[in-house]
Amino acid sequence: MASLTIRKLDDAIKAELRLRAARNGRSVEDEVRVILREASQQGAQHPVEAGSEQPHRQTSAPRVHGQPGTELPRVTLIIAGGIAAYKALDLIRRLKERGLFVRCVMTHAAQQFVTPLTASALASERCYTDLFDAASEFDAGHIRLARDCELIVVAPATADLMAKMAQGHADDLATAILLATNRPILLAPAMNPLMWNNAATRRNVAQLLRDGVTLIGPAAGEMAEANEAGVGRMSEPTEIADAALRMLRPPRPRPLAGKRLLITAGPTHEPIDPVRYIANRSSGKQGFAIAAAAQAAGADVTLICGPVELADPAGVTVKHVESAREMLRQVEAALPADVAIFTAAVADWRVKHAGSQKLKKSAGGLPQLELIENPDILATISRLPLRRPALVIGFAAETEHLIENAKIKLTHKRCDWIVANDVSPATGVMGGDRNTIHLISKDDSDTSGDGFRVESWPVMSKDDVAVALVDRIAAAAKDQTS
Ligand code: CTP
Repeated sequence: MASLTIRKLDDAIKAELRLRAARNGRSVEDEVRVILREASQQGAQHPVEAGSEQPHRQTSAPRVHGQPGTELPRVTLIIAGGIAAYKALDLIRRLKERGLFVRCVMTHAAQQFVTPLTASALASERCYTDLFDAASEFDAGHIRLARDCELIVVAPATADLMAKMAQGHADDLATAILLATNRPILLAPAMNPLMWNNAATRRNVAQLLRDGVTLIGPAAGEMAEANEAGVGRMSEPTEIADAALRMLRPPRPRPLAGKRLLITAGPTHEPIDPVRYIANRSSGKQGFAIAAAAQAAGADVTLICGPVELADPAGVTVKHVESAREMLRQVEAALPADVAIFTAAVADWRVKHAGSQKLKKSAGGLPQLELIENPDILATISRLPLRRPALVIGFAAETEHLIENAKIKLTHKRCDWIVANDVSPATGVMGGDRNTIHLISKDDSDTSGDGFRVESWPVMSKDDVAVALVDRIAAAAKDQTS
């Protein structure tokens, strides 16, 4: 039997073969095998008579059963060189658990931390490492890896890799894939907090967001380096896998398109002197999650937040403030808005005469701090005669008599809805990732009760609370316009 050398085929046939192989997620050699197999099966069913014309056949063959993962949504996972690369190995499993086919690519630096062999074993698929790999580059391997997937995930995304992406470099397999792809990209940055906060990284991240990549994290926490903490930890593999899954789903409807939302979040810091302040334990996570969910629902979102250790949500206008008075100023400047959501744990009091110099112990006895009340931002906005948003939502953080106190707050502050949550230390809500909430609103049709409607939601992640709340807001906005 004659042997066939693909290299010796016509250029036009080779080009057609490459295209077809890329479309079907196979190597060119495998594609040729499939074509020959199909031809022999067809030949058996319809023997070709000498001189008869072959009917035109579709070039996009159906995906072959039994070839691992070819029926599943495919993710190309690029592992870059950072200590968090070890977590990327767990990510492979989490992505597979969610029914995704994973093909790994490792940079040279990544191989200092984890081996391609481990990644291949976990993915049950070859791990690619070299741009100039004769076996895969014959059929333009980097183009195939860039296109033969529905999503590219980069985890960990190092400062160096993001800088190269922002500049459009393509000097290794990972960057060549990232430059050649037309698929969505999800980056999970991981680096030292100083690198994350460096002006160059900030510029590169801003550029990448403008280019349309999606970011998850980084989170705040301990670094691998001893005694280092801050924003820079890679998000947890389950969070990255969930974000990947969300990106692979058909786009959510955008029920808040054309609506302006204003959200406050986090604590405020009230100065005692230039180095000391009054604060609280709010992490800002719930407000940030609502901002991200509202943005995903199509809203134009302005988030006004006190000092938090969270990355700004993509696509949201974020105003960073310190004190309650600054927060109020920014809220007023962000009006008009259709909906305002006040999740911030605003400090109720500030020091009347904050020291312009550091208070000294030696100055005689204990300092006497006179406190005065801060403006109530929610109540101020709810009472605006002209520019009041159509829907004003407050949060009630309580440690006792949750529902009763929340109803009193709704009435006193004149908001439309109030989201009550128990922030007793035992619940772990303050700073944690889960929340149990009760959505309270005025119900004029409730003549027998106390005139309130109370809906208690099950324990949910703060992200899920955010999505559910945004859905409710969208439904209310629709009712108003219909
Ligand atoms: N709030 C505000 N400005 C303030 C205080 C609170 O905008 N100065 C808002 C919060 O963002 C939240 C709601 O009011 O939406 C309730 O906040 P919470 O801290 O639960 O209640 P307080 O009004 O501070 O009352 P208390 O501390 O006595 O419970």
